[in-house]
Amino acid sequence: MEFKAVAGSADKMRSDCAIVGVYERREISVAGDQIDRRARRRVSALLKRGDFRGGLGETLLLDSLPGIASERVLLVGLGQRKNYSPKTYRRALAAAIRALAHLPVRHAVSWLAHESIDGLTPYYAGRFAAEAALHTLYRIPDLKTGKKPPEPALKRLTVGVEDKVPRKEVERGLADGQGIEEGVKLARDLGNLPANICTPRYLAQAARELGARQKTIRVQVLDERAIEKLKMGSFLSVTRGSQEPPRMIVLQYQGGAKDARPVALVGKGVTFDSGGISIKPSAAMDEMKFDMCGAASVLGSFAAAAALKLPINLVGVVVSCENMPSGTATRPGDIVTSMSGQTIEILNTDAEGRLILADGLTYVRQFNPQTVIDIATLTGACVVALGNQYAGLMCDDARLTEELRSAGERAGDGAWHLPMGEEYAEQLKSNFADMANVGGREGGAITAACFLGKFTQDLRWAHLDIAGVAWLGGDKKGATGRPVPLLLDFLLNRARA
Ligand code: BES
Ligand code: MN
Ligand code: ZN
Repeated sequence: MEFKAVAGSADKMRSDCAIVGVYERREISVAGDQIDRRARRRVSALLKRGDFRGGLGETLLLDSLPGIASERVLLVGLGQRKNYSPKTYRRALAAAIRALAHLPVRHAVSWLAHESIDGLTPYYAGRFAAEAALHTLYRIPDLKTGKKPPEPALKRLTVGVEDKVPRKEVERGLADGQGIEEGVKLARDLGNLPANICTPRYLAQAARELGARQKTIRVQVLDERAIEKLKMGSFLSVTRGSQEPPRMIVLQYQGGAKDARPVALVGKGVTFDSGGISIKPSAAMDEMKFDMCGAASVLGSFAAAAALKLPINLVGVVVSCENMPSGTATRPGDIVTSMSGQTIEILNTDAEGRLILADGLTYVRQFNPQTVIDIATLTGACVVALGNQYAGLMCDDARLTEELRSAGERAGDGAWHLPMGEEYAEQLKSNFADMANVGGREGGAITAACFLGKFTQDLRWAHLDIAGVAWLGGDKKGATGRPVPLLLDFLLNRARA
């Protein structure tokens, strides 16, 4: 898809469809008014009649308005004017793209950022436009055998802005948005695949292909023997019950100075989490194919970083296996020795994400990272605490916490800070080993983070629990690609600093 920014008047700009906003209570936007005047108040008349109320995300397609250069005009509800914000801008734009997706509209011009929007810079106006368009037009790589619905016709999106707005800034946003969505798409594609296809070996292959596409990314894959050699007893305990071999994927992106310390991303890649011997209830167990979305977000972030040519260095560590029950599976009560040397009593084999991450976080030390961020669909408790809007952010470093929190806020991919601390870590005490892998029901997302904290001493480290945000359920079931936008905003900001 092609993106551009233009200045001008909404009525004069030629396209297959002009997208203009209408606020609630029939208040027309500036661009809408330009069209309305030229079209002899046809839009006002229709609003007066009550055909369109301007509720956020409402759309109405108008055809061949007199005097208007665009063939069609799509009215989009912006909600109340006083609430128009970066968030509602994104939602309105997504609704517009959805309305156009099945029409023969090849070129659309959005005038939704022609208004001044509190807190929205020209850069983000462009970035969100590209993100919303590509995100909305995304299609699941499904395995349906019938005739595929035709590709959406939309191939060009132009963002119309006021004359005084620096178009270069909007176009910089459009370019970044495209790069970020490349990463988001990869993360969604991998997340959406079923576990019988998206195995640890498949993830490794996807990483290799990414490395082949992008010269700046180096990929190394470690098999079970190599993982054994590293004495990753914690990681290996999770894969014991499975017929699928585990993989550890190491990615290196060189965009910065040769000796610049990298930012490290460590991802949970459990391609299916049955719970193991502590088996999960069967309701919605299929959704545990999404338990590799942390890993997918690492691959997606690398894809986006390379697309944006970020001038920084990155290291990625993806720990990937299946968690299955069998005669060879790890039993509750088993004690294993992690790569760090610390011993773990596995009281619940369903708390497996932290077991594989423990060794991934130990392994990443050799790269001398300036910052380490792990990304994991780690706990149901985090979903209970924060729902599907905010990811859980656990971090003891105030500056890093603020960097990640504000990156999420800017990117519209939020993370909410939850506490950690020694008091919580006490819940992990064991009579038989250095620690247990579970700390009881209370504060489950936090004790999981505290467990990881035992492997990140002296690192500048943050943990993102994405269990609630990595995928949607119900009839919207599918991977979201989160938190790739958050991570890229964080990295873009680091690159500027
Ligand atoms: N992958 C799950 C976390 C999860 C559960 C994500 C539900 C999304 C929805 C993780 O491996 C897990 O099973 N965690 C357990 C931990 C418990 C045994 C301490 C959980 O949250 O129930
Ligand atoms: Mn589990
Ligand atoms: Zn899991």
